Amino acid sequence: MPNIAIIGGQWGDEGKGKIVDLITPAFEIVARFNGGHNAGHTVIRGDRKLVLHLIPSGILHEGVLCVLGPGLVIDPAALEAEAKEVEALGIDVWANLVVSDRAHVLLPHHRALDLMSEERKGSARLGTTGRGIGPCYEDKAARRGMRIADVLIRERIDLRLAALREHFEALCRGYGVTRDIDWKKTADDLEAFGARIAPRVRDVSALLHDQMTEGYSVLFEGAQATLLDLDHGTYPFVTSSSAGIGGVVTGLGVPPQKIDGILGIVKAYTTRVGTGPLPTELQDEVGEALRERGGEYGATTGRPRRCGWFDAVVARYSARVNGFEGIALTKLDVLDPLEEIPVCVGYRYRNTRLDEIPADIAIYEECRPIYENMKGWKTMTGHAREWADLPVEARDYIRKIGDLVGVEVPLVSVGPDRDASVIDNRARTSSWLRA
Ligand code: IMP
Repeated sequence: MPNIAIIGGQWGDEGKGKIVDLITPAFEIVARFNGGHNAGHTVIRGDRKLVLHLIPSGILHEGVLCVLGPGLVIDPAALEAEAKEVEALGIDVWANLVVSDRAHVLLPHHRALDLMSEERKGSARLGTTGRGIGPCYEDKAARRGMRIADVLIRERIDLRLAALREHFEALCRGYGVTRDIDWKKTADDLEAFGARIAPRVRDVSALLHDQMTEGYSVLFEGAQATLLDLDHGTYPFVTSSSAGIGGVVTGLGVPPQKIDGILGIVKAYTTRVGTGPLPTELQDEVGEALRERGGEYGATTGRPRRCGWFDAVVARYSARVNGFEGIALTKLDVLDPLEEIPVCVGYRYRNTRLDEIPADIAIYEECRPIYENMKGWKTMTGHAREWADLPVEARDYIRKIGDLVGVEVPLVSVGPDRDASVIDNRARTSSWLRA
């Protein structure tokens, strides 16, 4: 099998967790390259629902090695709590999970800073997940951060914490606030965590290189999505990591020519959590109905997701930035009851038509969608397993999206279960989806 990257094509929550879970049997390794426990990948197994934040869902598959790369920010408490949850299912997590020595460590003061910064911004807040992700990446970029390699040595923990504390307290003084962080406990907890995790710490780039040389296949798993990417997303309403394809290279230490295929994951409509532009947003009962049918509530924070129609400008942009060769279209069944389905094919900004996402967020906020209406199918699609099982209007809708985005659609998801998936065998990239 080739090495394939899975990238979110909208603002996250496209259903990457299900797709990764579905296609993992075709791979020996699943490697995550960005973000932290801000992500929420929901995996459904029969009547069991598991939400994973840090650990790749590949952990649920026997013998699959799961890797947390250098591009991640790891909250030790969150990682260990999640590992315990998975272990409760009878899975030996630590036998199949390795953590990069270069990944950054997310600390209690990062969470405090995240909340402080959101509070201070008031109505201009980003609507972060409040997990401390941004501040941890800030410390990384400022070259003060603590890495996993540091938690293996007590002196190093103390040294790094001293620098982080000095900066944090200077910020608090500047803001005129006080925040109690138990630095001694933090140091002790890190030391204990370091001792526990040491056997699973690896040079991930070297490990992946060796494994790929042996002929093993890697699934590169992206968290968040292209429009939340620090460089290519709707800045400043973004997360602080590289959620697009570039993140595979920087976040794992894997050269680009080792990425054999790139699959975008795109929902049949659009959602977003947090603030920032969303041109197709429906602030009415139609949007409410999409939210209810789609269960559009944040997997990490439980916040209601903002819902709107499919935005082809967004998906096309993602396809270009990432080089998607195919897209998996998820949650098609949510559209089942609709008579008519508008698809955004471009934007109107004052008197001009825009076919690209403007960099200026104020302009983007003012963009209004130009819609083409597609006929709904008004039939349940949850049972569909073959292309021929889909109603003709649904096939038209999928084809239209493929045409607008400019790539093939090898997979359509029609329900949360793994088998509620239609693979289009005519698509070249459908071969990536089978073991
Ligand atoms: P942060 O990543 O917590 O800093 O949040 C920054 C923005 O990214 C906010 O709008 C969050 O709602 C959004 N975000 C972060 N992680 C996810 C995710 O996994 N799915 C969807 N949105 C996310």
